[in-house]
Amino acid sequence: MGKKKQIHLNGFVQNSPSPHSTGLWKHEKDEGTKHNRLSYWTETAQVLERGLFDAVFIADVLGTYSKYGNSHEAAVRHAVQLPAHDPLLIISAMAQVTEHIGFAPTVSTTYAQPYALARQLSTLDHLTEGRLGWNVVTSYLESEAVNLGLSGRLPKSQRYDRADEFLEVVYKLWEHSWEDGAVVYDREGDTFADPSKVHAIRHHGEFFDVPGIHLTEPSPQRTPVLFQAGASPRGRDFAAKHAEAVFTKGHSLQALKDYSADLRRRTAAFGRNPDDIRIFPMVLPIVGSTEEEAYQKHEDLKNHVSYEGTAALLSGHTGIDFSQYDPDQYIEDIETDAVQGNLDMYTKDPNKKWTLREAVLNHGLGNGTAKFIGTPEQIADRIEEWATVGDADGFNIAQSYSLETFREFVDHVVPELQKRGIYRTEYEGKTLRENLFGTGSSYLPDSHPARQISTLVK
Ligand SMILES: Cc1cc2nc3c(=O)[nH]c(=O)nc-3n(C[C@H](O)[C@H](O)[C@H](O)COP(=O)(O)O)c2cc1C
Repeated sequence: MGKKKQIHLNGFVQNSPSPHSTGLWKHEKDEGTKHNRLSYWTETAQVLERGLFDAVFIADVLGTYSKYGNSHEAAVRHAVQLPAHDPLLIISAMAQVTEHIGFAPTVSTTYAQPYALARQLSTLDHLTEGRLGWNVVTSYLESEAVNLGLSGRLPKSQRYDRADEFLEVVYKLWEHSWEDGAVVYDREGDTFADPSKVHAIRHHGEFFDVPGIHLTEPSPQRTPVLFQAGASPRGRDFAAKHAEAVFTKGHSLQALKDYSADLRRRTAAFGRNPDDIRIFPMVLPIVGSTEEEAYQKHEDLKNHVSYEGTAALLSGHTGIDFSQYDPDQYIEDIETDAVQGNLDMYTKDPNKKWTLREAVLNHGLGNGTAKFIGTPEQIADRIEEWATVGDADGFNIAQSYSLETFREFVDHVVPELQKRGIYRTEYEGKTLRENLFGTGSSYLPDSHPARQISTLVK
């Protein structure tokens, strides 16, 4: 019998109190208000490494959820992904106390500059010894745009145009500016690095002009592992072209199955191996020692959700001002420049029409993603089913109360996955890419577009 399909796990965090379960900072088991201390992050990384997770995935936004009532008040009052501390600055501390787990921070191509970001991420790939990923996003909040020098949020197609060129620039810097062996440390020859092996990228495009060389010598993975979560047709094509791991959110196995098939088809259309992309649905686990206990826990968690805070979160996610809505009103089906997938969850559900109240109650835990509720065995059953039938390669584990959700999952569900032979009992590789794709794969494969633009750089 062949080896069973192995699953991968990421821990989904953000540098805010209870970022993905609005209001849960009030729960007695929640420690998210300590997110402004290094000890909170070093412990997060250690708990997840004990559970042999692939990566700590750090979401981020650069603005407030102020679509709701055209004001930041609800977001401030209910800590709606606010305070929003920086995702990159916590990584070195986590790397220092761990050996294997990777770190995938979110940085937006709409507001960063590729030349500067390439340097920051290379620095972190060096410092983590090859354990860095990057969640590439194009951002969806109006409040990000207006505070970062734009008059308003760019239309989605323009955001992805810019993201495409952004990646072209960083690929040139990471993969083609410094040749292997450029750094020689030759004391006698008075040469640190050989200039004939370090190339200016001479990039001149629609959004960026970067004529020079990369400021950093090649890091262990060169390009950090590329994560993405595009959901619109354009977003999926972007992911299919560039991403090595994708995140998706949804209620059902059927939705996951459709998404996986579509994404693998699109990946092949870009000349890539469809298995070179790892699919991670987001899941909120609610574990109990009995099924009944797990469902009781779910009720208790729901009682801690902030209604107004979640309505503000949902307004930011969907681009609709729900302060104008009656709670029993059905959510309207529109085209949005915010996160279409988040709106579609409540407008294109084949099983029911969602009122605002129902959507808020669902969205308040794990940002509305699928919840796996039950005993460790029952949760492991669903994980197996979603991996085999839904074609997931792994799961992005969200939290209700912060840190304790991870501890419960690591202590109770991980051993059950291991017992079934579908989860590692030790890390395979040294770098994040090796842990995701197997030893000997620290660099991007040659079929990836980053590897195929070398002729442009000389
Ligand atoms: C699990 C998950 C995590 C995400 N994290 C972020 C994030 O941290 N910051 C962000 O701006 N967008 C984030 N997004 C939004 C996506 O980047 C993307 O914009 C969204 O899925 C909609 O896709 P589209 O842009 O193709 O419409 C996330 C999406 C998912 C499913």
